[in-house]
Amino acid sequence: MKEYWLRLARDRDTNDPHPGLRDRFHLPPGPDGKPAAYLCGHSLGLCPRSARTLVAEEFAAWATLGVEAHTRARRPWVSYHEQVTPYLARLAGASDHEIVAMNSLTTNLHLMMVSFYRPTPERNVILIEKGAFPSDRHAVVSQLEYHGYSAEEALVELAPRAGEATLRAADIEAAIARDGERIALVLWPGVQYLTGQAFDLRRIARAAHAAGAMAGFDLAHAIGNVPLLLHDDDIDFAVWCSYKYLNGGAGAPGGVFVHEKHGLDFSGPRFTGWWGHDKRMRFMMGPEFRPIPGAEGWQLSNPPVFALAPLLASLRLFDEASLNRLRARSLELTGFLADALTVQLGDAVKIITPSDDSARGAQLSLRIQGDRERARFVFASLASQGILADWREPNIIRVAPAPLYNNFEDCARLVAALHRYENRHDGD
Ligand SMILES: Cc1ncc(COP(=O)(O)O)c(C=O)c1O
Repeated sequence: MKEYWLRLARDRDTNDPHPGLRDRFHLPPGPDGKPAAYLCGHSLGLCPRSARTLVAEEFAAWATLGVEAHTRARRPWVSYHEQVTPYLARLAGASDHEIVAMNSLTTNLHLMMVSFYRPTPERNVILIEKGAFPSDRHAVVSQLEYHGYSAEEALVELAPRAGEATLRAADIEAAIARDGERIALVLWPGVQYLTGQAFDLRRIARAAHAAGAMAGFDLAHAIGNVPLLLHDDDIDFAVWCSYKYLNGGAGAPGGVFVHEKHGLDFSGPRFTGWWGHDKRMRFMMGPEFRPIPGAEGWQLSNPPVFALAPLLASLRLFDEASLNRLRARSLELTGFLADALTVQLGDAVKIITPSDDSARGAQLSLRIQGDRERARFVFASLASQGILADWREPNIIRVAPAPLYNNFEDCARLVAALHRYENRHDGD
């Protein structure tokens, strides 16, 4: 059976009309020295081969120009972050002035909440999902406390229904409506990090706005993975990191979207720094602060050129591959993987990610049946077979075929490796 799926996968790879850009990435080797089946793009994307060249160009600019690289480098350092803006805007469904690359996700989330969580005695609740990424919850609770509220008073967390792993859209709307008068901010993921569930951003934003609340999103697992239309969906703000599907490298600068209705309104509070100040006046070194119109007005510091260069290398590949084609390929790869898992492993592995294309991106989250120890054993067997996946407590293995560099054979190899283990374990 597994031979059949491997043959089928190779056949699909050979005849793939849109094969992605696999040979433009470094593929980490498995234990046998051959490329591993790298299914961890939801955690850390792979290194584009061109990243080294782009970083080397900035080293050369530093070596030959010193401080003058700020203005005279081929890509001047004072505005280096602008290099990535149009690419990110295309991925986010936004205008350039609604986007900026800066800081890290959690830092940006704080900056956004400073501006867009504006509690009053009557309306001070932040609504999040019960399984929110811990850093988001920490940030939210600390913002509540900063404003003098406790989590008990002002944090509402929505859990899936008993016995269900994912949330129903209608339940999210009902939760927003139920506490509507008290909610100041709805903070939601684009794609849930543990379950891989993709949400309908427009629907959530509409419900939040109908209740009189702001709608902000953590797009760590969504950007570069699922189509986004942040401007048209009327999202107030969004933040993301760039080391997952965007392949920017560990700790790469994150990104921010601020809807132009806010970006062009300078009345609200914000934390400021000199890089958010009017570009033409920045080096006048005066005391006044006049924000750059748009998302750039939330910048604090000058851009980390060496950290942005790998991101630029990767974003160019997104354009080259074309976003629509990548999404079509992603659906094919993830659909193939889901089918192969279901047919070959049946009940031994439960896919908790929704099966509907519109409710998932590349990632599938697999709940390994049996106790935790057994699940850990299954997971450990994958690395020794040249499969790179990741583990989330208590029994979840996350895998994501990234359409830029994964192929059908990577998917078939994962299923064969799980199958091999299941047989061996059953026979022990
Ligand atoms: C969903 C989600 N939110 C927030 C973060 C935190 O990101 P950072 O360390 O860049 O602040 C992560 C990191 O993996 C994440 O997956």
